[in-house]
Amino acid sequence: MWRSVFRCISVNPVLGQRGMSHSCLAGKVAIVTASTDGIGLAAARVLGRRGAHVVVSSRRRANVDRAVAALQREDIRVTGTTCNVGKSQDREKLVQTALDQCGGIDILVSNAAVNPFFGNILDSTEAVWDKILDVNVKAAFLMTQLVVPHMEKRGGGSVVFVSSVAGYQPMPALGPYSVSKTALLGLTRALAPELAQSNIRVNCVAPGIIKTQFSSALWQNKEVVEEFMKQTSIKRVGEPEEIGGVIAFLCSEDASYITGETVTATGGMNCRL
Ligand SMILES: NC(=O)c1ccc[n+]([C@@H]2O[C@H](COP(=O)([O-])OP(=O)(O)OC[C@H]3O[C@@H](n4cnc5c(N)ncnc54)[C@H](OP(=O)(O)O)[C@@H]3O)[C@@H](O)[C@H]2O)c1
Repeated sequence: MWRSVFRCISVNPVLGQRGMSHSCLAGKVAIVTASTDGIGLAAARVLGRRGAHVVVSSRRRANVDRAVAALQREDIRVTGTTCNVGKSQDREKLVQTALDQCGGIDILVSNAAVNPFFGNILDSTEAVWDKILDVNVKAAFLMTQLVVPHMEKRGGGSVVFVSSVAGYQPMPALGPYSVSKTALLGLTRALAPELAQSNIRVNCVAPGIIKTQFSSALWQNKEVVEEFMKQTSIKRVGEPEEIGGVIAFLCSEDASYITGETVTATGGMNCRL
C-alpha cells in the first residue's frame, strides 16, 4: 500500500503538496484479464503506474512470465497467473490469486475476447457462436459475478468491459464477433443499476482499430486501413496505451459519477446503435 502511495507522489511530486490525485489508484487491486499483450497489458501498465497492484493473466504461462517481468522492470506491483477466461476453474483461480496475493479486489477489467471466424454470418456454425459467446460475453459476466462479493467487502469497486467499435457497426466478415461486442454494451447497462447499490460502477470502452496482434489482419492490410481512415477524424491507427488510459480513467475517482456508460475511443469514427 505505502509503496504505491509513494509511487504516486514520486511520479508527480506536486501531488505530495496538494494531496492525492483522484486518478491515483494507490492501495487498489486490479484484475485485468487477457493482459499479457496488447490492450490488456497496456491497461495493466497504466493502472500499475497509477499505483494499483495489478493481477495479470492469460492462457500461456510463458506470456504471463514475460508480462510480469516487463511490468516489474517498470517498478509496478504485479502478480501473474494463467487464466483462460472460458474455463470456470481458471476464473476462480484468478480471483483466489488476487485475494491471496493482494488481499482483496477493487477493479476488474474484462478484456479477453476471441474471434475464430471470418466470413458470411450465415456460414458461422453453432460451435463458433458457442466459443465467441462463452469467452467474449459469458466469461465477462461470470468474472463480474465472482468479484462483486469481494468488491462489496472493500466498500465498492469498478468494472470495465472491453467492447469494440464493431459493437456499434458490425464489421464485414466479423458478424458473430461484432454481435458479442454489442452484447457487452447491453451487459454494461444491465449491470450498472444493480451494482450501483453496492457502490460498484460498471463501464465499457469501445476501441477503434488499435495496433495489436489481434487486429494485425486489419492494420497490416493497406486497403482496409485506407477504408477505415476515411471514417476516422484522427488519421492513424490507435496505440494500446490510448485505450489503457481510458480504462484507468474509468477505474479512478475522476469517473466517480460515471456508470453504465460506454466510452468510444476510435479516432473519431461515428458510433451509434
Ligand atoms: N486491437 C484492436 O483493434 C481492438 C479493437 C477493438 C476491440 N478490441 C478488443 O480488445 C481486447 C484485447 O485485444 P487486443 O487487440 O489487445 O489483443 P492482443 O494484443 O492480441 O492480446 C490478446 C491477449 O489475450 C490473451 N488471451 C487470448 N485468449 C484468451 C482467453 N481465452 N483467456 C484469457 N486470455 C486470453 C492473450 O494471451 P494468451 O495467448 O497467452 O492467452 C493476449 O494476452 C479484446 O477484447 C478485443 O476484442 C481490440
